[in-house]
Parts: sequence; structure tokens; C-alpha cells
Amino acid sequence: MSWETVTLEWDGDVATLTIDRPDALNALNVETLEAMQEALAEAKREDARALVLTGAGNAFIAGADIKYMQDLSTEEALEWGELGHAVADAIEAFPAPVVAAINGFALGGGCEMAAACDLRVAAESAVIGQPEIDLGIVPGFGGTQRLPEVAGEEAARRIIYLGQRLDAETAAEVGLVGEVVGDDELDARASDLAAELAEKPALALRGAKRAMNQRAEGSKEAGLGYEREVFAGLFGTHDQREGMEAFVEDRDPSFK
Ligand code: CAA
Repeated sequence: MSWETVTLEWDGDVATLTIDRPDALNALNVETLEAMQEALAEAKREDARALVLTGAGNAFIAGADIKYMQDLSTEEALEWGELGHAVADAIEAFPAPVVAAINGFALGGGCEMAAACDLRVAAESAVIGQPEIDLGIVPGFGGTQRLPEVAGEEAARRIIYLGQRLDAETAAEVGLVGEVVGDDELDARASDLAAELAEKPALALRGAKRAMNQRAEGSKEAGLGYEREVFAGLFGTHDQREGMEAFVEDRDPSFK
């Protein structure tokens, strides 16, 4: 299968899923999220032994598409959040390990997709964070639940409450990424790591992933349900409209 804004390439048993919307810094719209679902299903069908998730050009994923979200109603935002959750869940539940190769901006929904991966390698110029608060909303693709698991409570609350955008070194210090490499080395390092994973006994590796996912499962379903409600409930508020309009008009927002 082929898609406009996503590519799926193979190197032996390792698949690489690339978000390919560089003009919008790989921001996620409905078409891209649906393509990601299909590409993940194809990689699963073809029995990938490891998957790399990355972005085309200079960005990993600059977030959910603000231009699309700007005028969403609460009902529409609920559906939108469900679609984002479905993609992040599919990454998390992918049978083989998924490596995020963070080649640039991984903001909002981009940070959330990275957090759903098993391992994260960042280029030294990458910028990672959750700026939603400054758009008058909250992370809606799983960030309130997964970020504390990955980066710890205090760091996650700082990132989400303050809308922090961390450089790669700082992200590594809080555990949000596992390693930082030179920009030119990222592709090779992510491929090597994925190839190393692909050589491990597949059944054991898949078992380890399932077992470790289970550990985090507990109340996450309830947490994600709550995140969906809070996220959608903010659409239509003054601060959401103002925050997103200000981004689109390239000016500072004036919040209530
Ligand atoms: N949505 C839609 N378009 C986006 C985008 C986004 N999240 N991020 C970047 N773009 C677009 C820009 O509008 C611009 O398009 P035009 O050329 O048509 O104007 C293009 O990508 C290039 O962006 P910039 O000119 O802004 O590039 P820059 O290098 O000056 O800045 C940036 C890069 C700092 C990442 C800046 O684009 C930015 O702050 N983007 C928004 C980041 C953000 O807030 N992400 C969170 C979104 S909300 C979310 O994800 C909710 C959720 O949890 C579901």
C-alpha cells in the first residue's frame, strides 16, 4: 500500500515508518493518522521484527495539526482524540519493539507518539515537549498518562504544566529519551539499534514487551478516557480558540 503522507520501508525484517509532511513539519492530520494506522497494520501483517518511527526533513512530528483543530467542536475533538489514542495505542501494542528516531521537533502529539514507542533515540538538535497548555488545551494523544511513565511525575508535570520544550540533552537527563547522538548519526544509530533488536529471539522479546506493557496497563485505560473528556471539553473555550488562532496568525495569545 502507499500513502500521501506516510512511507513504510523495509531493510530485511526491520520496517521504518516515516511521517512525510515536511511542509507542515509532519504535523498530524486525519489523513496522516489514518495512514499511520494502516502502515502499522501492514508492518504487523508482514511480521516486522522491529519498527523505526521517524519524520521526513527536519522534524519528527511538530504536533497535532493546529490548523485542523482550530475550529473543532467538543464532539469533533472527542473523535479526534480517539483517533490519536488509537494510533498511539497501536504503536504501544505493536508486537515487536518500536524505536523512535527523533530527528527534530517532537512536540505535542509528536512527543506523545514518541512516548508510546519502546525506545527513543534523539538527534542532538531535537526539541521535545508538550506545548499544548499555551494553546489553551491539554495533551490529547496520551501525554497525561504516558509522559509520567517515561519521564517521571515531576518532570512530566513541569513539561505539561509549563508547556516546556526541552533540548535533547535535557530530555535525556529526565529520561524522556534514552540516548542522544549527533544529527548525522541518528539514522545509522536507530537502524543499528533496530537491527540488534531484530536479531534477538522474537518470541522472548515480544513476551518481554507484552509483560512490560501489562505492568503499565492498570488504570491507564481509565486515565486515557479521562484525558479524552478533558481534551475535548476544552474545545470551544475562549483560551482554545485564542491560543490556536494566535498560532495561525503568528502572534502572542491573550488568555483569560
Ligand atoms: N500544526 C499545523 N501546522 C504546523 C504545526 C502544527 N502543529 N507546526 C508547524 N506547522 C506549520 C507552520 O504553520 C508552518 O506552515 P506555513 O509554512 O504554511 O506557515 C510550517 O509548519 C513551518 O513551521 P514554522 O514556520 O512555524 O517553523 P519554525 O521553524 O519557525 O517553528 C515550531 C517550528 C517551533 C515547531 C513551530 O512551528 C511551532 O511551535 N509549532 C507548533 C508546535 C505545537 O504547539 N505543537 C503542539 C500541537 S497541539 C497537539 O499536539 C495536541 C495534542 O496533544 C493532540
